[in-house]
Amino acid sequence: MKRYSIASIPGDGIGREVVPAAIGVLAAVADKCGFALDFRHFDWSCQTYLETGKMMPDDGLDQLRDHEAVFLGAVGYPGVPDHISLWGLLLPIRREFEQYVNLRPVRLLPGIASPLRDKAPGDIDFWVVRENSEGEYSQVGGRTGTGEDEIVVQQAIFTRRGTDRILRYAFDFARRLGRKHVTSATKSNGLYHSMPFWDERFAAIGAEYPDVAADQYHVDILAARFVMSPERFDVVVGSNLFGDILSDLGPGITGTIAVAPSANLNPERRFPSMFEPVHGSAPDIAGQGIANPIGQIWSGAMMLEHLGETEAAALVMRALETALTAPDIAKTPDLGGNGTTVEFADAVRTTLLGL
Ligand code: NAD
Ligand code: IPM
Ligand code: MN
Repeated sequence: MKRYSIASIPGDGIGREVVPAAIGVLAAVADKCGFALDFRHFDWSCQTYLETGKMMPDDGLDQLRDHEAVFLGAVGYPGVPDHISLWGLLLPIRREFEQYVNLRPVRLLPGIASPLRDKAPGDIDFWVVRENSEGEYSQVGGRTGTGEDEIVVQQAIFTRRGTDRILRYAFDFARRLGRKHVTSATKSNGLYHSMPFWDERFAAIGAEYPDVAADQYHVDILAARFVMSPERFDVVVGSNLFGDILSDLGPGITGTIAVAPSANLNPERRFPSMFEPVHGSAPDIAGQGIANPIGQIWSGAMMLEHLGETEAAALVMRALETALTAPDIAKTPDLGGNGTTVEFADAVRTTLLGL
């Protein structure tokens, strides 16, 4: 039997609720399809930081290195400053394992109402391809001066290699999808160095793909267009920060960010890729058992796809969509229902076994 070794890091807040719920679904589909997922659990979190002064042990990345994938919940919780917790666990994993693509589908699922009037499944269906290893996310810069004279500098780093590889991924991905239209998020009217360079590379890489249509918008009007005409997008490529913002806005128009998944990919497969929902640890509802597990389960489906278990991935998505439209299955409160995390995930698991 084929076996896959997966590192699971539930992390903080609702991560500790939705990860076990999703693992129940993944174990069931593995069983049904005749392969095994060997999860090894890493209990690294803000609690670890409060106890040890570190989010993960010094050799933490080495402990993850030999797994085929990382399955992560969420990182960050009140009590530890966010820049400490995130730069202590999530961001080092993305960087060390060269997960330079953050692939985030934006799709209106059946059974969920869009806050946009008259939108049905099929109307909102596109992908955000986010640069995931450099750009505006940087520790370069610092503080100088004191009092009224204090100055803070935050550098953004755009390397030619890093920019070209994410743009090329976006064009290749559009080609593979068969929906050949890539939109670039820019801001070359305000950002003097980085975005003119980004536009220049977008034009140069785009020229290598004459069969793929390319257009670009400043990120401010692009945000408005996501709301006004989401149908027009296929693949949207953006820098680390622009991609981050657009990939919350996208799921916002599909009803809730709680369903949105992501794949942090090392496309060359030299290192493990990581799968996690777009949402965070949701401290406002943590511990109540009411978190929506769909983003985590869908992230699991993306992980199965990455592992080559395409049929299993499709089964998980069919089970999710079937459960979402079944009148007798209670959704979680963010979708207007009164179901719990465990009840909904269990209903997905049972639905899946019946497919
Ligand atoms: P959040 O995504 O945690 O929560 C935003 C809102 O959405 C909250 O009202 C929350 O209750 C709701 N929500 C999120 N996921 C939900 C789910 N599965 N079911 C139902 N409701 C859900 O964003 P935030 O409040 O900005 O961040 C909280 C913490 O999480 C911070 O420390 C932040 O840095 C961290 N964070 C981590 C990740 C990650 O690990 N990838 C992502 C985003 C935020
Ligand atoms: C995400 C999150 C992270 C990011 C934070 C928590 C650092 O918002 O995965 O989208 O900005 O990448
Ligand atoms: Mn985000």
